[in-house]
Amino acid sequence: MKHILVVGSGIAGLTAALELSREHAVTLVTKAALAESNTRWAQGGIAAVMFSDDSVAEHVADTLRAGAGLCNPKSVNVLCSEGPDRIRDLIRLGVAFDHTENGQLARGLEAAHSRARVLHSGGDATGLSVETALVRAVRAQANISVLEHTFALDVVLHNDVAVGLEIRDSEGLIRTIEADAVILASGGAGQLYLHSTNPSVATGDGVAMALRAGAQLADIEFYQFHPTALASPSTESSSFLISEAVRGEGAILLDAHGHRFMPHIHPKAELAPRDIVARGISRQMAEQQGLPIFLDATALTADFLRARFPTIDAACRDRGLDWSRDPIPVTPAAHYWMGGIRTDTWGRTSIPGLYAVGEVACTGVHGANRLASNSLLEGLTFGWRCAHTLLSAAPIATYDPTWPTFDEDAGNVLPIDTELPQNTTLVDRTNLQALMWDLVGIERTRSSLEAAAAQLNHWHADGSTIHALETANLLDLARVMVAAALAREESRGAHFRNDFPETSAAFQRSLVYANKVTVACP
Ligand code: SIN
Repeated sequence: MKHILVVGSGIAGLTAALELSREHAVTLVTKAALAESNTRWAQGGIAAVMFSDDSVAEHVADTLRAGAGLCNPKSVNVLCSEGPDRIRDLIRLGVAFDHTENGQLARGLEAAHSRARVLHSGGDATGLSVETALVRAVRAQANISVLEHTFALDVVLHNDVAVGLEIRDSEGLIRTIEADAVILASGGAGQLYLHSTNPSVATGDGVAMALRAGAQLADIEFYQFHPTALASPSTESSSFLISEAVRGEGAILLDAHGHRFMPHIHPKAELAPRDIVARGISRQMAEQQGLPIFLDATALTADFLRARFPTIDAACRDRGLDWSRDPIPVTPAAHYWMGGIRTDTWGRTSIPGLYAVGEVACTGVHGANRLASNSLLEGLTFGWRCAHTLLSAAPIATYDPTWPTFDEDAGNVLPIDTELPQNTTLVDRTNLQALMWDLVGIERTRSSLEAAAAQLNHWHADGSTIHALETANLLDLARVMVAAALAREESRGAHFRNDFPETSAAFQRSLVYANKVTVACP
């Protein structure tokens, strides 16, 4: 029996922990309560080929098209062909996906899907249903110890192999936990941006830890902005998401004068790829002095909206909005990071013993732009595969041959310079988020990125509170993201450079990064 450490309690971490617990002892470390994660907030659903009029080939084609030439086709094939079996696992675990009146699985349509294939549960509470079922199953496993309110500080290395974690436990004590393998599943970094659909826990801790440990990162410049978060005055750290599935059901976008504008931008109008809709809204907002765009769902009845989108319906009503009668104000917000810790199709990173799954990882599934509702599927499918590579009696010895091996690709690794000037000032998280939103957001230029880099180099992070530790991680990641966005002198998917508006064949490859300083722990 091995001892495996899993960091993070979203769909990827919980799935990996559950599978591993068949044979191994698992310690699951999570910095908040077990049920708190980005997964919990997912609305739209999980895309998977579960219908006879659909095919894996079509799901693959849609995913590759959305990824704008940067997906790893092998990973996409794994996702789309193994995903349906993993959905059946979830059903066996008790996830109640919604059904139609005639007993078939219900399915929604989202942007850039050629077919309706998005399964949902509780209408728009898919993430909550999945998280609840997985948490219940994990809690029932004697082989899984859960350490809640425990912050993972760093990966512990011995002879360049991951052998454990340094953690700050719920009492604030720093200690080391040894393990045969460490799986990072701690999610994304939506808190890099001032406006984000992500909960406050999404501070990129896993990617920052992996960077400090010397692991390779890839596709860091690609951050996806969701077109429609509710534009209500709010002091919350996250913006309320209005699912793309609402547009899938027929809602339209209106400018400040009540006119539709998306049909002039893309033939698929409101259901164009997500980056195009987000940019279209952002540009329209700039033309109308920052006033929000309106999402008009009034063609759908109040009963339908309440039944199909109960969470959004309640959130609107809490804020005094009746979306069955009036269009609601929306604005783009940071949503999903396509880049992350570079892995093969089994979750293995460039550091032996260190694995990464879910949003923290870059499997190459999403390329430059994630297809809607592919992320829960990725966490589920690759969380399962990662566990199975560790369960296997004869572990797969070589990396996926269609994915360049970490060594062969070393020539493409761009080192990150960690030496900072003297006389830096203490970073304030809100200022960091505002800088990222203004200068490294939906549209970028060399001058905006250079201005961001200059400011980032004059900030340092300090302190031992969780907030300070998270802010330090965000600052490290912001620096890498700016370096990556500067290096990619083209526009592709979610990365739009106003000074290089075209896609360039020379950049049809992932940029890979690694910290030149390897943190060696005892
Ligand atoms: C949504 O419901 O619009 C979000 C789905 C996703 O990000 O995949």
